[in-house]
Amino acid sequence: MNNITGIKYKINIAENNFKHNTKCRVCGNEKLHKFLSLGPIPLANSFLRKNQLDKTEDFYPLDVYFCSNCSLVQLLDVVSPKVLFKEYPYITGASKPMRIHFNGLTEDVFENYKISKDGLVIDIGSNDGTLLKCFSKFGLRILGIEPASNIARLAETNKIPTVNKFFNENCAVNVYKEYGPADIITATNVFAHTDNLENILRGVNHLLSNSGVFVIEVPYILNLLNNIEFDTIYHEHLSYFGVRPLTHLFRKFGMNIVNVKKIPVHGGSIRIFVQKFVTQQPQNVTKLLSLERGAKLDSLDTYMKFAEHVVLIKNKLVKLLMTLKNDGNRITGYGATAKGNTLLNYCKIGTDILDYISDTTPYKQGLYTPGMHIPIFSEEKFHEDPPDYTLLLAWNYADAILQKEKEYRKNGGRFILPIPEPKVI
Ligand code: TYD
Ligand code: ZN
Repeated sequence: MNNITGIKYKINIAENNFKHNTKCRVCGNEKLHKFLSLGPIPLANSFLRKNQLDKTEDFYPLDVYFCSNCSLVQLLDVVSPKVLFKEYPYITGASKPMRIHFNGLTEDVFENYKISKDGLVIDIGSNDGTLLKCFSKFGLRILGIEPASNIARLAETNKIPTVNKFFNENCAVNVYKEYGPADIITATNVFAHTDNLENILRGVNHLLSNSGVFVIEVPYILNLLNNIEFDTIYHEHLSYFGVRPLTHLFRKFGMNIVNVKKIPVHGGSIRIFVQKFVTQQPQNVTKLLSLERGAKLDSLDTYMKFAEHVVLIKNKLVKLLMTLKNDGNRITGYGATAKGNTLLNYCKIGTDILDYISDTTPYKQGLYTPGMHIPIFSEEKFHEDPPDYTLLLAWNYADAILQKEKEYRKNGGRFILPIPEPKVI
């Protein structure tokens, strides 16, 4: 396996751009166990322009820890949000499955909660405003809070009122003064990205009306473990939640989980509804908590076994790709995902294996992947010049993509799924 691409670029461990926590971010416990190390690797969304390829690249440790007190799985090396979210290429509206998903979220809220007609919805981490647009169809007032300036500008262009700030208590106080209390606050894929969760919750507590509902979505740790979705681990994802640590967290702020649902996004997530002043634990919360106990999410041993599995996947995938390549096949990657960059960097899969990666996001086309420097091209290139095999780096959209690429597969093209076990389909 030694002729697979090594890191042959100038790398720098960016000591000044991250801090190392010494306590669990939910419960404050100091006894944390490291069970997996995937780095050092570059930031998963730090795509490069051609003229940056021979410059020194910033790498960061990617070590994963388990808290034996509240069961939170987490990174302790926290990259400064200013570095992480400065220019952010993830545009929600660019993905049709996410648009469909957000429509479902809004319907879910309206089916289960009474919201007044002129109610206010605030979306934390509102991206290009795709979710808020779904809410605005119901006639509600909407407001986005988005820290990435390029994306906040895009949202404004799309006529989504957006505050270009990190959401925290201070921001909440200012928003409250101008807009009053919120009937719905949403935070999809925000909790996993946030180091100081207490600051967000103090803000939510301040902004949410007494009968309001706070809706969060986070990737579910049980899916990560069951499907060995190790590539969803990267510096942006600081916490990997189960219901147990979340229960712990909300209680600290006098809030309670009033409903929980499994949802099929980002490799399997949970949608959690939280309210103030409701203390009864609903049955579906009890059920998931007991499922988590059954899966031994409170035991270090579970995570040690997961880490062993990750190494097996790496060895198997590299072997498979090398064999195909040595047999003269052309291979590309499908979807220049962030998770793909964890996978490629951890397995050291470079341009000696993948000719290019195709991706539908215009922003990413023409750029190169961080660390492994694989060029990104449009989907048209993939169709014009189809490879023998393509590694499905956007496996979270596997069903939609396999359906979309029927023609490619009919003509003999093959997809390779990296997880839960590398296989050609
Ligand atoms: P995403 O699901 O956001 O994954 P991550 O959070 O790991 O970055 O990214 C999906 C990427 O895949 C996005 O860049 C668009 C791309 N994509 C395609 O190229 N073709 C497709 O058919 C789909 C569904 C996505
Ligand atoms: Zn803890």
